[in-house]
Amino acid sequence: MLILGIETSCDETAAAIIEEKDGKIKVLSNIVSSQIELHAQWGGVVPNLAAREHLKNIIPVITESLKIADIEPAQIDLISATNGPGLIPALLIGANAGKTLSYAWKKPLLGIHHIEGHIYSNLLSPENTEVKFPILCLVVSGGHTQIILMQDHLNYKIVGQTLDDAVGEAFDKVARILELGYPGGPIISQLAENYTAENNSALPDIKFPRPMLKAKNLNFSFSGLKTAVLYATKKYPELKTDINFKTKVAYEFQQAAIEVLIHKTLAATEKYQPQTIMLAGGVSANKELRRQFGEAISEKNSNLAYIIPAITYSGDNAAMIAIAGHYRYQKMSASEKKQTLNNWKNLKTDANLKLK
Ligand code: KG4
Ligand code: ZN
Repeated sequence: MLILGIETSCDETAAAIIEEKDGKIKVLSNIVSSQIELHAQWGGVVPNLAAREHLKNIIPVITESLKIADIEPAQIDLISATNGPGLIPALLIGANAGKTLSYAWKKPLLGIHHIEGHIYSNLLSPENTEVKFPILCLVVSGGHTQIILMQDHLNYKIVGQTLDDAVGEAFDKVARILELGYPGGPIISQLAENYTAENNSALPDIKFPRPMLKAKNLNFSFSGLKTAVLYATKKYPELKTDINFKTKVAYEFQQAAIEVLIHKTLAATEKYQPQTIMLAGGVSANKELRRQFGEAISEKNSNLAYIIPAITYSGDNAAMIAIAGHYRYQKMSASEKKQTLNNWKNLKTDANLKLK
């Protein structure tokens, strides 16, 4: 089976072709056209500018994905496009491209939840095809911070989530406070890597709160942590441009965020006794999070499987949307599959689409 994935929910125009054969998945092409430079000057993603770029790039990106995979449209078995959540002007471009191609090529079409795509990005690595349920997945992106329990494929229960900012959003806002640029996650994590306690011993002591660490639920809050960073920078205006100070703040902020994420996921592990723990979403590219999470899990229970997406698939991409489409299509009855040929008429985008 050959699947074309399309993703335009935020600031990446992405198309990918994956092949499924005897249950094994192979990524034949994975094209991502990033708009980071365009949005960096505004300090964040501007929805209408994103849509304009998607419109310009969507056909070339899809064409490229077919060319790299060496696939003709006639060979495609399924089109899988993100239909939410995300920025509506941006989502519409990819979803409408999927609808148009589904109509023109007479191919089945599925709308995919962006977070479902992130979760299934873990299964793009061949060694992870056989996952053991239940799974607990920590989803960390620019728009989401959730702990999701999966008793089976495509079965989701959100058991914890942020009450305010998403953790990726907090990384981005902290980078803005420190005047480091956009997007903040990669810059902060790079800075934090340079931190050594000796280098920074001459700087004031900075400690940030671990929000909701003690709360008896599995929810998160990151807006207070971001405000604490703001206060720290205001307290030492003379250090505002000092790179060592920025490095220390970046390190301490990242450590506070990681500690809460790990602590809550381990608490969820006690409650739900999963066999597998997964990580998903753009923040899963964070090396320290990947390392510390892995260590904490193996200390807790060495029988727990720990799965993380390959770095290539941790940010927004369309291979993850294609694989999620494959799992959905595979579970459908013959008549449901037939219905998907009409989805070019029916598919709706939804900025707040719920994961079901
Ligand atoms: O999943 P994603 O690419 O887009 C959304 O669905 O939101 O996630 C983007 C988020 C941004 O907030 C970005 O700063 C963050 O992921 N991010 C990181 C890292 N790389 C990307 N955060 C921390 N460390 C990183 N290395
Ligand atoms: Zn994403």
